[in-house]
Amino acid sequence: MYGKRKSYRIEEGSVKISFAGGEGIVTVLTDEIINVFSPLISEDHRSKAIEGNKAKGVSFEVKEKIEYLEIVTKKLLVRVYDEYKVDFYSAGGELLCADFRGSRQSSLQISEKFLALLKAEGHEVSSRGDINYRVQVVKRMEGDEAFYGLGDKTGFLNKRHYDYEMWNSDLPTAHTDAFKALYKSIPFFITLRKSCVYGIFFDNTYHSYFDMGKEKNDYYYFGADNGNLDYYFIAGEAMPEIVENYTYLTGRTPLPQLFTLGYHQSRWGYENVWDVREVVQKYRALDIPIDTIHLDIDYMDGYKVFTWNEDDFGEPKALIAELKKSGFKVVTIIDPGVKVEAGYNIYEEGIANGYFASTPQGEVYENAVWPGDAVFPDFGKPKTRAWWAKNQRFLIDLGVRGVWNDMNEPASFRGELPGDVIFTDEDEVSNHEAVHNVYGHLMSKASYEGWKEYDKRRPFVITRACYSGSQKYATSWTGDNQSLWEHLQMAIPQMCNMGLSGLAFIGTDVGGFGADVTPELLCRWVEVGCFSPLFRNHSSRGSVRQEPWLFGEETLAVNKKYIELRYRILPYFYDLFWECESKGLPLVRPLVLHYEHDEEVKNMNGEFLLGEHLLVAPVVEQGVNRKLVYLPKGDWYDYWTGEKKAGGCYFIKEAPLDVCPIYVKAGSILPNFEPMQYVGEHEMDVLILDVYDGNGRYVHRQDNGEDFAYREGEYNEYEFVVLADGTLKIELVHHGYEKLYRKFIIRHRRKTQEFEFKGTPLTIWL
Ligand code: GLC
Repeated sequence: MYGKRKSYRIEEGSVKISFAGGEGIVTVLTDEIINVFSPLISEDHRSKAIEGNKAKGVSFEVKEKIEYLEIVTKKLLVRVYDEYKVDFYSAGGELLCADFRGSRQSSLQISEKFLALLKAEGHEVSSRGDINYRVQVVKRMEGDEAFYGLGDKTGFLNKRHYDYEMWNSDLPTAHTDAFKALYKSIPFFITLRKSCVYGIFFDNTYHSYFDMGKEKNDYYYFGADNGNLDYYFIAGEAMPEIVENYTYLTGRTPLPQLFTLGYHQSRWGYENVWDVREVVQKYRALDIPIDTIHLDIDYMDGYKVFTWNEDDFGEPKALIAELKKSGFKVVTIIDPGVKVEAGYNIYEEGIANGYFASTPQGEVYENAVWPGDAVFPDFGKPKTRAWWAKNQRFLIDLGVRGVWNDMNEPASFRGELPGDVIFTDEDEVSNHEAVHNVYGHLMSKASYEGWKEYDKRRPFVITRACYSGSQKYATSWTGDNQSLWEHLQMAIPQMCNMGLSGLAFIGTDVGGFGADVTPELLCRWVEVGCFSPLFRNHSSRGSVRQEPWLFGEETLAVNKKYIELRYRILPYFYDLFWECESKGLPLVRPLVLHYEHDEEVKNMNGEFLLGEHLLVAPVVEQGVNRKLVYLPKGDWYDYWTGEKKAGGCYFIKEAPLDVCPIYVKAGSILPNFEPMQYVGEHEMDVLILDVYDGNGRYVHRQDNGEDFAYREGEYNEYEFVVLADGTLKIELVHHGYEKLYRKFIIRHRRKTQEFEFKGTPLTIWL
C-alpha cells in the first residue's frame, strides 16, 4: 500500500516520510523507544494508555541511503524501507527485529462450502488467517523467539506458536487454553531471543489480533480491524529494562495503602448483615489475620449502583463503623450498568446530562445487566467521568475504603453492544467498536480520580477490564476462574504475564470463583495466594462456600499458616510496590525476567519469583506431595529448613499439604512485621530482618501507609547491607516520617539478636 519512499522531513522528534501511497511517521521518544505511526483514521495518536508527552527530546541523526532511510539514536538504528517496512538494529548493527518481506499465507485451507457446513452444524469457525487486517504488521521470525506478556491470557507462559485477540470479554464458561481473549486488552508483548530482547506495544483499541508464529514459522504478526498503525518498539539491555521502558510509557502502579496488601474475604452470596457478621466474627474468633471484607452486588438496592439495600444490610454507616471496630475495612462492588428506573437519581441525572451512550439515532442505548434494563455511562466523555468520580462520595461518606469495578468490558446480557453505539472520545464522537477495549480503563480512571479527590487516601480501585496503562488507576484480578486444578496451574503464568505487561497489583480469586473447591485445592491455592499481590478468597453463588474454616482442622491450619506468613512479609510486599512505582517491575515475576540467558526458565510455568529475593515453587496438582524444583544459578536457602541449595539444577522437594516450597536468594535481607490480626491493630514499630549469608543490599521504606504524604518526602528509608564476612549494617538514609522503628530483631541462622534503634547507624556481627 505505501509504495516507494518519495521524501522525508524532520519535525521536532519525528521523521515524517512520504510514500507514494501514504505517510509514515517515525518518532524517537527516547534512545530506546521508537514509535512507528501512520495516520489511517486520525492525525494524532489519541492514546488512552499514554498520558503526557513521553518524548525526552534526545538527539538523533537521519541518514538517507538509496535503499532506506536510517534513523540513528544512541542505542538503535532504525531503517525505513519502501512499503514502510521498518527494521530495528542495535547501535552496534546487530539485527533485533525486521519486518517480514513476503505476504501472509493463511493456514486455514477451508473452502467456502465446507466452512458453511461447519457453521451450519454450530461449530465456531474463525475466519482469522483468511484476511489481511486493515492495520497489520508482520515481523520476521528469526527462529529463537520466545514471547511473553499480552496481558491476561490463558495458557502457558511462553506465547510462541499461539494466537490471541484483544477484545475484552466476559465469557461464563471455564477459561481454557483455547480462549483467545479474556477481560483485558494489553496489546504489549516481549520478544526474547538468544542474542537480544525487545518489546512491542501496539497502541490500538479496536479488536486486534496477535499471532505469535502460529500461522507460519517464518513470521509473527499483529493487526486490528480499524484504527491507526501505531506501535512502539521498545529496546533495552535486558528484560527488566523492557518492562521499565514500557511502564515509562504507559505508567506505573502507584504505592497502595498498606492494608490492601493484607488478606481479603469475599463471596457473591453474602446476602445480609448476618452473613457478613458471621464471617468477620469467625475470622477474629479463630485469630486468622484479615483486613478487608468485600460486599458483592447484593448490598445494593435492586442492583442499583450508589444505593444501599438497608432491608438486608442495615444502616450502612452503622455497619461499616461496627466492622471498623474489629479492624475490618469494607470494599463494595460497583458495576457500570445503571438501572433504567424513573425517579432513580443516578439514572435521572445521567439522562438529563447526556452521560450515557446512545444509539446512532440519538436515543439512549439500553441493554441488560444485573438490575435488568440498564444504560451505560459514556466514560469517554470527561463530564461523565467527573460525574462518576463525584458519585464515589456516596461510598466514601459511608466509610467504604475501596471500590471494586466489575462487568466493565462492558458485559451485557442481551448480546454484545453493537459496534455503532455512540460513545465519546474526549472531544470527538466515537463508537463502541473504538471504545470497547478501553471502557473498563476509563471507568477505573474516573473512579481513581474520585477517590483521590474525595477520600484523599491512595485510591483502592479494583477493575476486571483493563487496557494498557490501567495499572495507574487500579488493581485487577483474573475474573471468573473456577475451582479447578487447571486454573490454579494457570494462575502462575497468567500472573507472570500480567506483571510483564505492567499490571503489578493483581491476583486470582483464591479457591476459585465458580465450581466447588475441595479442601486440598483451597490449601494449595492459599499457598499461591499468599504471594499474589491481591490476596482475596472469592467465590460464586451456587458454589460451595470456601471460607478457611469450613473444611476441617487441617485446611484451617494451612490457611492460617499462609495468611499469617503473608502478614509477616507485608513489608517486603510494600517495598516491592515502592520499587514498582519508580521502575514498573511487577511483584510476581517469571524466572525468565531475571535469568533470561538460562534456557531452563524460558518455559517455566510452575515457579515464580516474588521480587528478586523469593522463589516460590508451589504444588498445583491434586494428590501430589513433592515438587520438582529448579533454582537458577547461585546460592539459595530453603525458607522452611534454612538448608543451603546450589542453583543451576533440579531437585525434588518434599511438599506435604502444608508446605509450599520457597527459596531465598543468598545475601537477602527480608523484612518482617511482628504478628498482627490486621493493619493498624498495633504500632508497627519493630522490624524483624531475616538475614541470609552472602553479599546483599536491601532498601526498606516506612511511612503512614495511607495517603500521599510520602510524595512530599514523609517517609523513612533504611539501607541494610549484609557482607559475606558476617556483618550487617543498618542505616537510616532518609528521615521524613516521624515514627522510626523502635527496635530491630535480626534473625540469622546462627542466632537472633535484638537492637534498640535511635536513628544512628548500627553494625551487627551476625
Ligand atoms: C462477576 C464477577 C464476580 C462477581 C459477580 C457478581 O461474575 O466477576 O467476581 O462476584 O459478577 O457480582
